[in-house]
Amino acid sequence: MSSIKIFAGSSHPALAQSIAAEARVPLGGLRVTRFSNENIKIKIDENVRGSDVFVIQTSAAPLSDHIVELLILIDALKFASAARITAVVPYFPYARSDKKDEARISITARLMADLLETAGADRVLTMTLHAPQILGFFRKPADQLLATPILKEHFEREDLSRSVVVATDAGAGKIAGHFAKRLHLPMAIIDKRRVDDSELAMSSALIGEVEGKDAIIYDDEIATGGSIQEAARILRHFGAVRVRAGATHAVLSGPVLERLGSAGLDELVVTDTIPVSPEKARGLSNLHVLSTAKLFADAIVRIHNGQSVSEMMEEPGES
Ligand code: R5P
Repeated sequence: MSSIKIFAGSSHPALAQSIAAEARVPLGGLRVTRFSNENIKIKIDENVRGSDVFVIQTSAAPLSDHIVELLILIDALKFASAARITAVVPYFPYARSDKKDEARISITARLMADLLETAGADRVLTMTLHAPQILGFFRKPADQLLATPILKEHFEREDLSRSVVVATDAGAGKIAGHFAKRLHLPMAIIDKRRVDDSELAMSSALIGEVEGKDAIIYDDEIATGGSIQEAARILRHFGAVRVRAGATHAVLSGPVLERLGSAGLDELVVTDTIPVSPEKARGLSNLHVLSTAKLFADAIVRIHNGQSVSEMMEEPGES
């Protein structure tokens, strides 16, 4: 395959720079102009003819602007004759809109996959989808990285002999189960129900043993913090001694500061797939943000070289 090039939209400059540095590929030059009528113009500043191009853009506020920017960037690269374009989307947009659970609604994660393909993406690289079935929305190759190795390395720095991994609901059971297996820990599941679209999670029961244990709540994302707050409350009610939480995507929206502030977590660990604002970082004193740059850079280099990406997620002896 031809030369590798990496470009980035404006959603997460720090992550894009770190990925490019880890991959030892300089970020490609481009200019984004926003006109007074809110139209976006993107000018690629270098020749990409015949290149294997990777475009980094995550879902972060202002979300709709960043989605359109990504589509325009891919379109510009396609018409500049890039040989192959891979959309690198650390946090996939509308990932929670993955099913038709009400009449007359859009499965918007599928629409996002369609839009990327229409713009000209030949492949997609993302991390920890809300549901792995979203991979099936793409008619082009799509790879999903998991943050498990990064979070595992972090939590393993402490003695885990009394720890239990906790899923915030049955839906998170699979991803939490994968994490528990990697850490060789037991797991528990909270019975969480959402009352409606009010983003308020309620729980009342727990499957598994947490009394006298150190609980590690594990989820794909933290949005308003309601799930983690409820999980922490119920874990303490059932006798957990310490309550920590780990999640891939730090959406951190709405009343998250108040909710996590009152959750009394001993530690909160997330990754940098979404930028965490200084205000949020200040408001969450025990927050650790882990870098995903090396994982993305390794995956980019592997895709470029035609090597396996799924192999990166395997433990020695697994296949
Ligand atoms: C939901 O199904 C997800 O796995 C997360 O539990 C959810 O997105 C977290 O949202 P919140 O922080 O608003 O409870």
